[in-house]
This record gives sequence, C-alpha cells and structure tokens, in this order.
Amino acid sequence: PHRKVTKICCIGAGYVGGPTCAVIALKNTHIIVTIVDVNPTRIAAWNSDSLPIYEPGLDAVVKECRGRNLFFSTDVDKGILEADLIFVSVNTPTKTQGVGAGYAADLGYVEAATRRVAEVATGDKIVVEKSTVPCRTAQSMRVILEANSRPGIHFDILSNPEFLAEGTAISDLMCPDRVLIGSLDTPAGRSAAASLADVYAGWVPRNQIITMNLWSSELSKLAANAMLAQRISSINALSAICEATGADIDEVSYACGLDSRIGPKFLKASVGFGGSCFQKDILNLVYLSESLHLPEVAAYWKQVVEFNEHQKKRFLHRIITCLFNTLTAKKITLLGFAFKADTGDTRESPAITLAKYLRAERAHITIYDPQVTEDQIWLDLSEPGVVDDIESLKKQVTICNNKYEACEGADAVVVCTEWKEFKMQKDPADTRGMDWTRVYEKMKKPAFVFDGRLILDVHRMEEIGFQLESIGRPG
Ligand code: NAD
Ligand code: UGA
Repeated sequence: PHRKVTKICCIGAGYVGGPTCAVIALKNTHIIVTIVDVNPTRIAAWNSDSLPIYEPGLDAVVKECRGRNLFFSTDVDKGILEADLIFVSVNTPTKTQGVGAGYAADLGYVEAATRRVAEVATGDKIVVEKSTVPCRTAQSMRVILEANSRPGIHFDILSNPEFLAEGTAISDLMCPDRVLIGSLDTPAGRSAAASLADVYAGWVPRNQIITMNLWSSELSKLAANAMLAQRISSINALSAICEATGADIDEVSYACGLDSRIGPKFLKASVGFGGSCFQKDILNLVYLSESLHLPEVAAYWKQVVEFNEHQKKRFLHRIITCLFNTLTAKKITLLGFAFKADTGDTRESPAITLAKYLRAERAHITIYDPQVTEDQIWLDLSEPGVVDDIESLKKQVTICNNKYEACEGADAVVVCTEWKEFKMQKDPADTRGMDWTRVYEKMKKPAFVFDGRLILDVHRMEEIGFQLESIGRPG
C-alpha cells in the first residue's frame, strides 16, 4: 500500500508551477497545495487580482481554489516542512558562462532548491523533478538529498516532466495527452510513483498516466521538445524552397499532414519558433550528446536551432529586398511581440531578434502587442551593460497600445505573432478581427505587409491594394 498524499509543496511559482499546481488543487479538494517562490513580487501577484502570467482560463481556476486548498507563499521552508510531496519547478536556463556556456542547462536553481529540501525536512518526502533537466539529474538530486539530510529520513525521487504549452496551459493540463512519471524500479520507487499517480488520477484517466524508469522519463521530455522543434525547422526549411519555386507552404503542410503517419499538427511555417524551452532544451540535448562523446548526434540536433536562426535572418533579408534595399529611417510596425498568441511571454520571441536586426538597419520601429507590457519590451530590446542604450533605443522604437495607430504612416507592417485580432475581420461588424482597409488607407505606398505567421489571405489583401509577402509563398 502506498502513501496517500495530503499536502503538496511546489517550489517555483512560474509558468509551470503556478498553472500545474493550481489545477492539481482544483481537482483534488482533499489536498492542500502550497506554491512557494523566493521572488516576493511574483508571490504577491499570485495573491492579487492581477496574476503574474496571462493564460486563458487561469484566473477562474485560481479564483476557485485560492484560500481554500491553494496557497501562494514566500515561506519556502514552511512549505517544505509541511508537505509530503514536493515539486521542484524552478527555472533551468541555458548556462551563460563557464563550462558548457551557451549549451548546458544551469542546474544551480534545481540544486539550491534540493539542498533546501534536505536541510529543512524533518520527515520522509517524495521529491518530484518538474523542471526540464538533463538525463540523470535525479541521481545528482539523490546524492545531495542523502548527503545533507537528518539521519533516518527517506527521500524518493520522481521525474514528472510537464508538457503544457503556453497559451493553452489550462486546457493542456485538464486534458493531457499523457502524464509521465519516472521512478527507480525498486519497491520504494514504485510506491512513490503510485502516490503521485493518485494525485493525477483526480482527473486524468489511469491509462493516460504512464510510469517508466527515471532516465527514460527525463530523456522523453527533451526528446519530445526536440522532435516538436524539429518539425517546425523542417517545415520552415521547406518554406524557403516554396518562396523560390512558387509552391505554397500551407498547401505542402496540408498535403503532408493528411498522411496519418505525419499528422496535421505543428506544421505551421513561421518566422521561427520562440519560447523559453525549445532552443534551451535542444541545446541541452546537444550538450548531453557531446558529453557522451556522440558528436554526430549533437550536430544533428544542433542544426534544428541553427536553421531557426537562419529563418529569422531570411525574413529580414526579404523585408530589406522588398523595401528597395534600405530601411534607414523607414517606419516598420511590428504587430505582436509575444513568442506566440495567447501569452504575454516574450522569452526567445522571434520578434525580439527581428527588432534588433531592424534597429541595426536604422529603421524606426513601432511595436504593438495586446498582452506584453511596455516595460518588458524595453527590457527585451536593451542591451545589458551598454551605456545610453535606453536613450538611443527610445529614439528608434515606439511602443503603441492601439494597433491602428501603430500602423499609421508605416512603410511596412510585419506580423510577428498570430494574435486573432490581426486576422482580417469577417465583416465590418466583426470587432475582434482587423480592418485592414483602414490600415491600408493610412500607410505609405506601396503598402507592404510581411506575414511571418501565415494568417492573412493573399487575394483579399491584394484586393485592398497591399503588397503581401508571406513566409513560404513567392512574393
Ligand atoms: P519560471 O522562470 O517562470 O519560474 C521559475 C520560478 O522558480 C521563478 O519564479 C523563480 O523565482 C523560482 N525559483 C528559482 N529558484 C528557486 C528556489 N531555490 N526556491 C524557490 N523558488 C525558486 O520558469 P517556468 O517557465 O515555470 O519553467 C520552469 C521549468 O519548467 C523549466 O525547467 C522549464 O524548462 C520547464 N518547462 C517550462 C514550460 C513552459 O511552458 N514555460 C513547459 C514545460 C516545462
Ligand atoms: C512547447 C511545447 O509545445 C510543450 O509541449 C512543452 O511543454 C513546452 O514547449 C516546454 O517545455 O516549455 P511552448 O513553447 O509554450 O510549448 O509553445 P508551442 O506551442 O510549442 O510554440 C513554440 C514556438 O513554436 C512558438 O514560437 C510557436 O509560434 C512556434 N510554432 C509552433 C510554429 O512556428 N509552428 C507550429 O506549427 C507550431
């Protein structure tokens, strides 16, 4: 018989820890869930009416559980002390210096959280890796826990990677394709896995809760992200061929996706993938492969990230060529700054890279995004450590909170994020879409629109008078 979990602590109140544990609390009213974080501003936001992350459906879940069986706190030690199961859901960014810089995951936050658990715990705990980590990190966590804890305390370590995507986090959590739990193949390991499986069984069908060995579980997370990103780089590489030949990438995606072995999802060509994880996790896999003396494997995966960089540059080159080979002093409007629609997150957003390239071309850039805060955009575009940078930045970049004003007088409008509100309105009464005729009237002519997300219809845009340049279609 395995232990029934009654108190959960989640270390890390970020994009993963917050939504995941909020849904766990929603679906398990008998479990007290406390989410802790060292960042007091973030915790204060979780306890307020304006949550620190924008995610459709999240507000309602938090509203229902907060104060009932869901709590947010900066008291990390108390959270650890009281819990019988602890999620470690801290950030694991790419190392910026030292050995493996630019590739390896920085496991400093995972280690700090693990050490805290060892030092504070006065009873047995199940410790769950929720963060995305390199294969065999659970082994390091075990050594740290066992070397630093009070005598007689037993820790079980599980891997339980998270597969949610931002913008759809709540629906992904409510109906996951699978929940993955990795454990040691020992009686204690299997029993801990069963305890965690019971938590998910609060709403996920048992046959979708998969258990396996720890190392397979850790690697499956990196593998899934690498394969998803690879699909995007594959379709983006084909988009270059389309532009040069007259084929249309949406048609090619459709034709390929109808093959049930390929499937239709995740085949949308774009200006490049962004987000906090794809690049980081592939580089992590590249580093792992190199450390295992598998250089060909490393080179294979590295190409997925390198092509993504190339795709962004390709798009810039197209903008420059179309705009008569100079962008100096031209007004370029970026519609969308988030890395995808339905999130305010800008981590690794292709719009950041594009804006930096456009700045180097001396263009005047105007940015509009419905969810990203102005402060975040300044932060993303400024170069840390460069004196006067913010001054010159503000001379070259304008942030606008109205999409129509943002486009007024522009030489070119660039769609960087596939927000619904940038799609063409169905009829004049449709206020959720965009009135592109209104945009056209106030733009410089020829009026160029560069569609980095393939959300605009060529014929309708050309009817209005636009010169539409889409990824994966000849100009
Ligand atoms: P995040 O940066 O939004 O949140 C991490 C939080 O951990 C931060 O608020 C930070 O203050 C806190 N933290 C760091 N060290 C701490 C410590 N020692 N004690 C207490 N709090 C601490 O990160 P995220 O996007 O939630 O990602 C977390 C992990 O989940 C990463 O490994 C990531 O790869 C993985 N992941 C992310 C996503 C996603 O969509 N963002 C999806 C699946 C998996
Ligand atoms: C991704 C994965 O989809 C999640 O399963 C995973 O849990 C998560 O990474 C993670 O580990 O962090 P996320 O980055 O939030 O989720 O969002 P995605 O929907 O995967 O989009 C990533 C990027 O790829 C976005 O910039 C998106 O615009 C782009 N994309 C996506 C395309 O260009 N084309 C597509 O067909 C799909």
